[in-house]
Amino acid sequence: MTNPTDLLHRRYGVHGLNTDIPWSETLSNLLSHRSIRAYLNDPLPPNTLETLVAAAQSASTSSNLQTWSVVAVETPERKEKLAQLANNQQHIRQSPLLLVWLADLARLTHIAESRGLPHEGLNYLELFLVAAIDAALAAQNAVIAAESLGLGTVYIGALRNHPEEVAEILNLPPHVVGVFGLCVGYADPAVNAEIKPRLPQAAVLHRETYNLEAQDEAIALYNQVMKAFYNSQQMDVPGDWTEHSSKRVASAESLSGRHKLREILYNRGFNLK
Ligand SMILES: Cc1cc2nc3c(=O)[nH]c(=O)nc-3n(C[C@H](O)[C@H](O)[C@H](O)COP(=O)(O)O)c2cc1C
Repeated sequence: MTNPTDLLHRRYGVHGLNTDIPWSETLSNLLSHRSIRAYLNDPLPPNTLETLVAAAQSASTSSNLQTWSVVAVETPERKEKLAQLANNQQHIRQSPLLLVWLADLARLTHIAESRGLPHEGLNYLELFLVAAIDAALAAQNAVIAAESLGLGTVYIGALRNHPEEVAEILNLPPHVVGVFGLCVGYADPAVNAEIKPRLPQAAVLHRETYNLEAQDEAIALYNQVMKAFYNSQQMDVPGDWTEHSSKRVASAESLSGRHKLREILYNRGFNLK
């Protein structure tokens, strides 16, 4: 178990933080998180998939509706096709397991229809949001479980660049859409993956009421921290976090095809009323 001093320093990229905090092995694991983008060829231990899914199913789920599912992809051919759709990300090919997390309203549609019950509520944005939140909570539980077992993970939002093609490859019915992927495997120790600093708490933690202006100082500090981090990691990121993040949301084109998502969701049976 690593101590809070070291992990808080790396999580925020600054020294001198209050490290007199409650501590546990779970906290040590959580604060040690980093995405892994280089994997060994090693297979996962037996029953790892089922264990990750049990952890995922242990997450809270809105009204116990359980409006998510997951497709486990292990065959190289199918991973290859998905990698090509997800901006050719090499770690999808490398990792032994790709989990595709789904917002799934097909099951509720199906059970209601099987008893001739009304299900008009499924046509509203609220239920898509419930399903996407459910999928995210489940996936993050799987991430924590994987990391506790010494495995690495990285989310793959780029699967939303081509949701229709992903649906075809995974044989998804209407009312189901892939919200993101997750690579799981053993990190290649030859490739360093550092803990990436986050915004100072002064930017994200508001007490009683929200305050945007009060965040400026924290953001300025974070820009410096991230510039130093990009340099230390030899990451080819021009400018600071503000510049980098603004570029990511600069235009519809910056969304890598995802600006068409509302229309695609509608075509897949999500009415989003
Ligand atoms: C929903 C979601 C989608 C993501 N999609 C990708 C992706 O397609 N490719 C990738 O390399 N990283 C992806 N990431 C990982 C983020 O870039 C990463 O979490 C972030 O930079 C913070 O770094 P860390 O996870 O190492 O702390 C995604 C993360 C989330 C939560």
